[in-house]
Amino acid sequence: MLARLEELRAEGVARAESAEDLGALERVEVEWLGRSGRLTALLREVGKLSAEERPAVGRTANEVKTAISGALAARREVLEQGALASDLSGAGLDPTLPGSPPPVGAAHPVLAVARQLEDLFLSMGFLIADGPEVETEERNFDALNIPSDHPARDAQDTIWLQDEPGRPRLCLRTHTSPVQVRALREHGPPLRVVAPGRVFRQEAQDATHEHTFHQMEGLVVDRGVGVPHMLHAMHTLIEGVFGRPLETRLRPGFFPFVEPGFELDARCPFCKTGCRVCKQSTWIELMPGGLVHPNVLRACDVDPEIYSGFAFGLGLSRIAMLRWGIDDIRWMMSGDLGFLEQFPA
Ligand code: DAH
Repeated sequence: MLARLEELRAEGVARAESAEDLGALERVEVEWLGRSGRLTALLREVGKLSAEERPAVGRTANEVKTAISGALAARREVLEQGALASDLSGAGLDPTLPGSPPPVGAAHPVLAVARQLEDLFLSMGFLIADGPEVETEERNFDALNIPSDHPARDAQDTIWLQDEPGRPRLCLRTHTSPVQVRALREHGPPLRVVAPGRVFRQEAQDATHEHTFHQMEGLVVDRGVGVPHMLHAMHTLIEGVFGRPLETRLRPGFFPFVEPGFELDARCPFCKTGCRVCKQSTWIELMPGGLVHPNVLRACDVDPEIYSGFAFGLGLSRIAMLRWGIDDIRWMMSGDLGFLEQFPA
């Protein structure tokens, strides 16, 4: 029995030392030390030995096991080092093969519309203005002539930040209109700006209402600015978005920061006789606007006896939805790649 053990030791160690790769090494391990391996099989016979013989055989069997395990571990180390070295030295690497191209992203539909409109308005001499998404109550409401009891200020509609004593009240801006105030206070008239950005409302969400969406504000203040100037800007905008002029109509609309105030509708660009988009009316509501209220000019230190202006508010999310036939506004902020990948750059 001892002699057979010694044979196993010699052969097992030799096989381990000559294993050519990690796979072969694994097979040696299983064949010698595995549950039905050769050493295990031999050890089963120990029971048949006499009590005197058993301790010596048991001890030797353990030594054999340790010796073979050691040889396996040493060989594994050598093989692993070798594999690493050959990886690093580039053996088997063909540097002339083309790499795998990284996935390329694309502009979000809202961003695509915003960029296109920014270019258009830049070409007409407008500035692109920006404002923070956290805004003071004063700029979001007061300076825009929105009375303090106006329902829009209600916590039902506006997301307010926690009050801090001695600090002005802050909210998440509910529209891009406060950028009118910022731009006018900063630059003074004459001024032409557009301000795209994210706005927030406390909304019960559905296919047309979302707590976060995008608008673009437009503001022109100069001497002698009137409704025809506003209409010209709006028509240019429509042609930029839809690629052709659309028939329009003006309806009266009420917004505290404009007087007179309007709603501009355009002929549905998708049909002649009524469709799902225009709800069978052949008109789509495109954007509100009007002449800047004298109180807004005053709040921005502009003399309404000298200057006048127009403003409009464009729903960028809505325009993007119209343009690509997107039927639910909740897709816009969903981050859903299946949705976004339908808008390649
Ligand atoms: N701020 C308004 C809103 O979010 C939209 C708006 C209306 C903007 C009339 C304007 C305007 O500049 O003149 O509902």
